[in-house]
Amino acid sequence: MKSKFNPFNPQFGQKPINFIGRNAQFNNIINGLSSPHSPYRTTLISGVRGSGKTSLLSSIADEISQKNDWIVINTSMSDNLLLNIINLLKLKTKQKYLRIFDKIKDIGIEFMGLSLKVNFEKTEFRGFQTLMIELLNYLKEEDIKVLLVIDEVKSDKQMRELASTYQVLLRENLDIALLMAGLPREVKLILNDDVLTFLNRATKIFLNNIEPYEFKEAYKDIFKENDFKISDDVLNELAIDTNGYPYIFQLIGYYIWESNCHEIDTNVVNMAIEKSKSDLFINVHNVIFKEISKMDFEFLKAMAQDDGPSDIADIVKRLNKTKNYISQYRARLLSSGLIEANAWGSVCYTLPYMKEYIIIRQHGLFK
Ligand SMILES: Nc1ncnc2c1ncn2[C@@H]1O[C@H](COP(=O)(O)OP(=O)(O)O)[C@@H](O)[C@H]1O
Ligand SMILES: [Mg+2]
Repeated sequence: MKSKFNPFNPQFGQKPINFIGRNAQFNNIINGLSSPHSPYRTTLISGVRGSGKTSLLSSIADEISQKNDWIVINTSMSDNLLLNIINLLKLKTKQKYLRIFDKIKDIGIEFMGLSLKVNFEKTEFRGFQTLMIELLNYLKEEDIKVLLVIDEVKSDKQMRELASTYQVLLRENLDIALLMAGLPREVKLILNDDVLTFLNRATKIFLNNIEPYEFKEAYKDIFKENDFKISDDVLNELAIDTNGYPYIFQLIGYYIWESNCHEIDTNVVNMAIEKSKSDLFINVHNVIFKEISKMDFEFLKAMAQDDGPSDIADIVKRLNKTKNYISQYRARLLSSGLIEANAWGSVCYTLPYMKEYIIIRQHGLFK
């Protein structure tokens, strides 16, 4: 489609116009939600920063919101998660089904405004559970289902309370579904949490990188439709440079568009990649390195000596530690999604341009 504005959107937490390569996951969840006993009714998505968790959640939330028989509550973890959910449910019911809302109001649950808030805060968790049961019963009578979409999940008190309530709601046969997303490390903590173990039964989706070929096709369509000239060779180069990572797909596209050069050659591509890398390092790599442990960092640094995948045997030698010790860190980094296992015994970085970032970092350019 011809676009007046830059159609690329390299911002976190916003669904891009060009949402590529997640059709299978998107369709499975959408179709699954329509069936009451589908395993997709409770789904837990994980993936590294920038893999597109929030975008996928938003596109599903948008799609389901269009349906007449669903209310979608889209929120992210916060101190007031449960209160947020109730307030949003109240608002959405009122917006969409005034008739039912009036009925609920009449039966005298303190459901509107301040009185609910005070009650709810006083009775806390029990209040939330009771209100949810009561509300969902009313909605069920009208065949209305509720989808809770929770981004950036963490295994904390709020999550435990929400999860136990959710379990009760399922037991009561109420029409509710739960779609969550979080970083791999957080999701692992959730699955290991005693109170949250039942979430092990959720459908788990890990957002891998996208086939670069899909990005190539997307670039081709977008640029050609908007009167940019680009050869097949340059398109291939572009696709390879994305490494299949969604955030950089948006960044590179954005900077090419902004350059206003309607003949996209290698020079334009190189300029866009340099600008994109700078954003990527600040918004992704640097954030990740602030969160990891010293030994995780040492491991990733030791990998930077290789041009391609790193042999674990070499990492053992470079770090001068036992094989056992290194395997533990290998496992940690694998489960945080920062490295991937290749052929037996070798690993590589998941995120693009990681080696370059580590080298720059060693020169003191990032803290
Ligand atoms: N499937 C996709 N196709 C194209 N761009 C995407 C896709 N998923 C995410 N993006 C882009 O990648 C960036 C990060 O997406 P986001 O959903 O915020 O990631 P996460 O929540 O996993 O950190 C955003 O700029 C977004 O527009
Ligand atoms: Mg996100």
